[in-house]
Amino acid sequence: MKFFIKTYGCQMNVRDSESVAVLLERHGFEGADNESDADLIIVNSCSVRGKAEDKAIGKLGILCATKRNNPDRIIGVMGCMVQRLQESLFEKIPALDFAVGTRRFSRVPAIIDLISSGQKHVLDVGEEDENFESLSGHPENSLSAFVNILFGCDRRCAYCIVPDVRGREWSRPGERVIAEVKSLAEHGVKEVMLLGQSVMMYGRRNDVWPTDYVSPHGFVEPFSRLLEAVCAVDGIKRVRFTSSHPSGCSEELAEAMQQLPKLCAHLHLPVQSGSDRVLKKMRRGYSVSDYREAVQRLRDARADLAVTTDVIVGFPSETEAEFEETRAFMEEVGFDNSFIFKYSPRPSTPAADWDDDVSDEEKMRRNKVLLEDQQARGTRINERLVGKTVEVLVEGPSRRNAARWAGRSGTNKIVVFDPVEGIKAGDLVMVKIDRAMPQTVYGRVAAA
Ligand code: SAH
Ligand code: SF4
Ligand code: F3S
Repeated sequence: MKFFIKTYGCQMNVRDSESVAVLLERHGFEGADNESDADLIIVNSCSVRGKAEDKAIGKLGILCATKRNNPDRIIGVMGCMVQRLQESLFEKIPALDFAVGTRRFSRVPAIIDLISSGQKHVLDVGEEDENFESLSGHPENSLSAFVNILFGCDRRCAYCIVPDVRGREWSRPGERVIAEVKSLAEHGVKEVMLLGQSVMMYGRRNDVWPTDYVSPHGFVEPFSRLLEAVCAVDGIKRVRFTSSHPSGCSEELAEAMQQLPKLCAHLHLPVQSGSDRVLKKMRRGYSVSDYREAVQRLRDARADLAVTTDVIVGFPSETEAEFEETRAFMEEVGFDNSFIFKYSPRPSTPAADWDDDVSDEEKMRRNKVLLEDQQARGTRINERLVGKTVEVLVEGPSRRNAARWAGRSGTNKIVVFDPVEGIKAGDLVMVKIDRAMPQTVYGRVAAA
């Protein structure tokens, strides 16, 4: 039996899809290169905006229609949308075979067995499996790996569905994270990306270190301790993390940024708005000046720090003047990249009770303005790299043109260069930059 998983949403979902793929392989299934060859197709869904759900539902409808010519095909859905819509998914999509929630994906192989034996409409949205940790495998032969450090979210921003669909915040014990990173390094992984909705909350709600743990740098914050322990793993060359929150950008994190050379000079710090009134209404828990100070603290530690962000346009009651404040603040911070989203009311969130009073055309306009600003700013920022030499983790032939190679800088820029004798994927090379685009820079290898 061949399977294919189509993933929507954030890195958490990508990570969950990886785990399910490994479980299915252990169960004797084989991954298909594309969905038309697959006997089992799973859509891993996202609920963060209405459009994300529409996409998953549309996709499932199309997939289920293919069952007419292929009646043995199994179609399932997992992820955040299942947690939200549960039973009602089977009314929306009658030919759907199963739906499994965010904490139960380890049950997928058993569910497939149930369906193969004739059961219909299997729904599993319970609490976590006890042995869930040992069930989360990684794909083979990758250079870079996602590692969960914190599940769920307790922050409850006024617009956000994530706490409802991903549950209470919970941090994995440090020793389990370290064991996973060590095992990844033994399998050739060079770079890890530590994942959580708000990673700096790591270890704040539950204990993650034994009381006699001694931090070599004298760090007291659980997140800084974790970073130093992950950076200490042999074979790991780079450590990244996402997402961040200004309240976690402490003096100690700045010190970690300075002391740990494997830690990449990149911070994804969602700002959402540049207006204090809107930030307050969003219940983000920081002001514009808190945000400014957070970035400054880390830039003081790492002058080359790249900062990227998320912004919501057209939040209820956002005025033109407030939008312009956001625009000006983005310019002031000088974001290397930004992801702009049109506000989408999510059922059961506080903001859903407020009038969604910015028209769709106006949201579209604000979205476009910020994107154009970002294109110009991205190019300008990247042009500062021309003539400089950056360290690149080599990925291999570039997607657009296989004669050239690509990799990423520590600041997360895509770097395209001519391959030289002897280099291979996973090497760190120095590349001298000679040309800049908004998302990509080009250059030649200066030294391996
Ligand atoms: N936990 C992360 C964000 C996860 S959701 C953080 O807080 O950093 C990713 C992004 O989706 C958010 O940063 C936000 O910009 C956007 N988003 C979340 N809910 C949204 C909604 N209801 N409408 C539009 N965008 C939304
Ligand atoms: Fe959502 Fe806010 Fe939690 Fe991010 S921090 S997942 S935006 S509630
Ligand atoms: Fe979407 Fe769930 Fe991630 S709602 S953004 S896939 S946590």
